[in-house]
Parts: sequence; C-alpha cells; structure tokens
Amino acid sequence: MDGNGRWAQARKKRRVFGHVKGTRVAKDVIQNCARRGVQYLTLYAFSTENWLRPQHEVDFLMLILQRYLKRETENLIKENISFDIIGERHRLPDNIRKQIETSIERTKACTGMKLIFALSYGSRQEITWAVRRIAAQIKQGTLNADEIDEARIHQELWTQAIPDPDLILRTSGEKRLSNFLLWQCAYSEFHFSDVLWPDFNSAELDKAFAEYALRERRFGKVNKTDEQLRY
Ligand code: FPP
Repeated sequence: MDGNGRWAQARKKRRVFGHVKGTRVAKDVIQNCARRGVQYLTLYAFSTENWLRPQHEVDFLMLILQRYLKRETENLIKENISFDIIGERHRLPDNIRKQIETSIERTKACTGMKLIFALSYGSRQEITWAVRRIAAQIKQGTLNADEIDEARIHQELWTQAIPDPDLILRTSGEKRLSNFLLWQCAYSEFHFSDVLWPDFNSAELDKAFAEYALRERRFGKVNKTDEQLRY
C-alpha cells in the first residue's frame, strides 16, 4: 500500500493525510476482495523499518490502525472475515495489542476471507526468529540438523497458518519487495501498479486480477502441452 505520503504532498497536505485516505481505500479493497472470493489477503500496513519514521507519523499510524480495528471489527464479522496479524507483536503499543486480540477473538468464528495485517513485519526478522527457534530445538535435543527441511522452516514462520501468496501487488510505481514475505514469495506472481495507494480502486484491482488470470504458473516445471510436444 505504497504512495500515501507522495499523494498527500502532491496536494500540499501533511503525509498523515495520505494515510487517512489510504485507510479508506484499504477498507474498500478488503470488502472487495472478500466479495470476490479471495481466501487470504495480507496487507503490509507497517514494516519493521517504519519504526524509523518521525515519531508523530509512527504514533499517527498506530492510532489509525487502532481506530480502524475498533470501528471495522463489526463490519468484518458481517462480511464473514476473520482477522489476524503477522509481525513483532511485542513491539506494538499495549493498546494496539489489546485491540488486535479483541478483533482476533471476535472474528475467529468467521469462515470467509482471512484478513492479515503485517504489523511491525519484516521478512528477514521473521526468518531470523525462525532460525533461532530451530537452533533452540537442536540445543534441547528435540531436533536433529538433518531433520530441517522446507516444511520445518515453514512451521516456524509467522505465516505458518497461511498459504504462500499467489499474487503480490505493490502500488506507486516502486518495483521492490521491501522485506515482505521473502521466503513465501518463491513462486508468487507480481503486479506493480503506478497508481498511488490513495487512488487505488476496484478498477485497478480488476486490472491486477485480469493480468494474474493470464499468467501461466509452472512452478519451475514445463506445462503439459510442451511436455506432449517434446515426446
Ligand atoms: C506506505 O506509504 C504506507 C505506509 C507505510 C502505511 C500504510 C498504512 C495505511 C494504508 C493505513 C493503515 C491501513 C489499514 C489497513 C488500517 P508511504 O507513506 O511510504 O508513501 P510514500 O512512499 O509516498 O512516502
């Protein structure tokens, strides 16, 4: 969800104005994805690197996250959406953590789309924590080094209950991952939109899904037709 700051600055407003508009867009996109049958939607709402922003911007982002959850949990339930987060929970302020726990608890019986906020999330940090836990198991003697495989690593990631993403979408013309789901994106498709996040809408989402639908996902193998042609 990139481009909030630039969107606001282009209107001679403070960056936080862009985050407010960005939150409204996020709300629409969440509803839109749920109604289209998306099963998992992960929003990169706050990265580990975002802690380094000016304190007033960090505080503001925390405030709008808390407000979003407080106001929207009821709507999530109506849309049958369950909520969860990935990231360094312990770094989040107490009031946000409490609100998160409440929203998780209240939406846990919902069986539709799973909405995940990546909060204080960084993929390298996630992998580092996973390596530490695996090393601890080896030290305790409950795991042998040769038992470490991809499945075991997956089990120790914050995304252990979430399938790898089919499609990763980034707005604002930036073409990089910025520490997002680095392990999990091995076979993901990417869509980079030039639109700034506060201008993102359902037509842009349509474009991303239409482009995705044309991709041929081979996961490193050859497709069936090529296989038949060769033999
Ligand atoms: C990146 O834009 C965006 C963020 C760091 C925050 C994303 C947060 C929201 C959209 C609001 C909260 C979301 C929810 C779901 C409640 P940027 O500030 O880096 O923009 P820039 O690249 O133009 O500076």
